[in-house]
Amino acid sequence: MNLILIGYMGSGKSTLGKKLAKTLNYPFIDLDQYIEEKEELSISELFKVKGEIYFRKKEHEYLKEILEEQNDVVLALGGGTPCYANNMDLIKADSKSTSIYFKAGINELVGRLKHERAKRPLLNRFDTDEDLVEFIGKHLFERAAYYNQADISISVDKKTQFTILDEVMTHLV
Ligand code: S3P
Repeated sequence: MNLILIGYMGSGKSTLGKKLAKTLNYPFIDLDQYIEEKEELSISELFKVKGEIYFRKKEHEYLKEILEEQNDVVLALGGGTPCYANNMDLIKADSKSTSIYFKAGINELVGRLKHERAKRPLLNRFDTDEDLVEFIGKHLFERAAYYNQADISISVDKKTQFTILDEVMTHLV
């Protein structure tokens, strides 16, 4: 079984994914990192040099590749992955994959992301905290329709990593 982690930027997909993989003794794949290795460019550079449409195309192709080739892995997606192409449908149609949504609220996300704007291509244009709050609020609302299709949904606000992982494991047994 593959475990597919979804959620907005800053929701903890990569950090929790690494820990979950260790607990289950599964390999961990981070889709962003996979794309960076295959394309030999960082995500920021890919957005800058090739543009978002190219990035979304590659994100879709590499997701398909991983779903076809891998079994028993923990896969952390990018925040936008479930919301483009037919990616969420592919994930739902894959009988060997279980999807987990790490659900974080706007305030929690803003708190986590406001110091990371520079390295995030979708957030680096917001100079003030107010603009960031407004953007994340709208963006999360649009994306929730995709995220909410996950098999399992876990709220992460104000919880320790230990508690979140414990909840994940409870859902899996
Ligand atoms: C994106 C999220 C990022 C990365 C890219 C686009 C998005 O991944 O894929 O910057 O559209 O939300 P993380 O959620 O891992 O930061």
